[in-house]
Amino acid sequence: MTNIHQMMSALKEKGLYREDFKHLSSEQAHKVEMEGKETILLGSNNYLGLCSDIRLKEAAIDATVKYGVGSGGSRLTTGSYDLHRALERKIADFKGTQASLIFNTGYMANVGVISSLCDRKWAIFSDKNNHASIVDGCLLNGSRLVRYKHCDMGDLERKIIEHRGSSNLIVTDGVFSMDGDVAPLDCIVKLAKKYGAITMVDDAHGVGVLGEKGSGTVSHFRVDDEIDIQMGTLSKAIGSIGGYVAGKQCFIDYFRNFARSFIYSTSLPPASIAASLKAIEIIENEDSKRVHLLKMANGFKNKLTDAGFIVSDTITPIIPVIIGDAQKAVEISKSLLQEGIFIPAIRPPTVSNGTSRLRLSLMATHTDYELEYVFDKLVFHAKRLGVIEG
Ligand SMILES: Cc1ncc(COP(=O)(O)O)c(C=O)c1O
Repeated sequence: MTNIHQMMSALKEKGLYREDFKHLSSEQAHKVEMEGKETILLGSNNYLGLCSDIRLKEAAIDATVKYGVGSGGSRLTTGSYDLHRALERKIADFKGTQASLIFNTGYMANVGVISSLCDRKWAIFSDKNNHASIVDGCLLNGSRLVRYKHCDMGDLERKIIEHRGSSNLIVTDGVFSMDGDVAPLDCIVKLAKKYGAITMVDDAHGVGVLGEKGSGTVSHFRVDDEIDIQMGTLSKAIGSIGGYVAGKQCFIDYFRNFARSFIYSTSLPPASIAASLKAIEIIENEDSKRVHLLKMANGFKNKLTDAGFIVSDTITPIIPVIIGDAQKAVEISKSLLQEGIFIPAIRPPTVSNGTSRLRLSLMATHTDYELEYVFDKLVFHAKRLGVIEG
């Protein structure tokens, strides 16, 4: 127990202690009721605003009326519905792959896929900024985990030459969740071909945002035929919940048989699956939402840069404003909340020391007026704390 108390005190001293969560009492939208107060939300992954779209709600209600609330079991026993199969077909067509398999979350997809595919004979080359679920999948399987410098292709090649095993996997986020930048998939596929590695992309933040009709980062780089495994989540731009893996039929058959997080867990409920099906249909047919979002995000990023902020170079709606010091990042975030704006402060260990940041994520439904207000308040508090001059 003493050790626990010491660890908590140390976290508090460093400004890294995670306080209780903020409570929402409205739907997930660009404006929410947070702690009883109307608040502009700039911390959601609901990029297209689909979480609260009436068409998703109706699809979920209809599915609940027809199939009930729970799915009753694992897909391998009695928990596999025609809806599961329809969503897997839809995802495969959307991603342009032979087949797909749905998991209960993106976290479970990464852990299940990587831990079942690789064993101690494998070397896994993973970008240093990859999501924690990729790292956890690698740690579960006893393989050699080799982390290369963020998006550094020279470092990746050096590490492949030095550490490659009899089987090799290169795994990367498509869009990095804390920086909003995009992995150089065109270069990664070349290295994979040269050294005989399997490629896997976690496109949690790319789907609905980049590529042909929002189909993701792999499409953005036009490397659809070269990426072996595309993983993603249904919980961000798609607005529902769940994870998936898409690729050649042989991979999907393999994961259906060996991915433990798929096998030993009750399957997704009908309402969530129906909502995901509707969301993908909307994304495919209403590209203007996505185009508007990217244009708005680019304009806002440029405005912040012009005001003197250090902003990561991003073409996505994730706009990280680097503050550096963890305590200052938290203080700005708290001050903004008083003004009716929620932007989360992201601190170590989620990001490296000295790079604490405010992670703004824009939604297609934010208005110009809201963004003007956010900009003015952000500038005011950043100046007050000496983050920018003025
Ligand atoms: C890059 C990345 N991969 C995987 C996940 C996990 O997805 P999910 O939230 O569906 O578990 C996330 C979300 O936090 C993510 O940002």
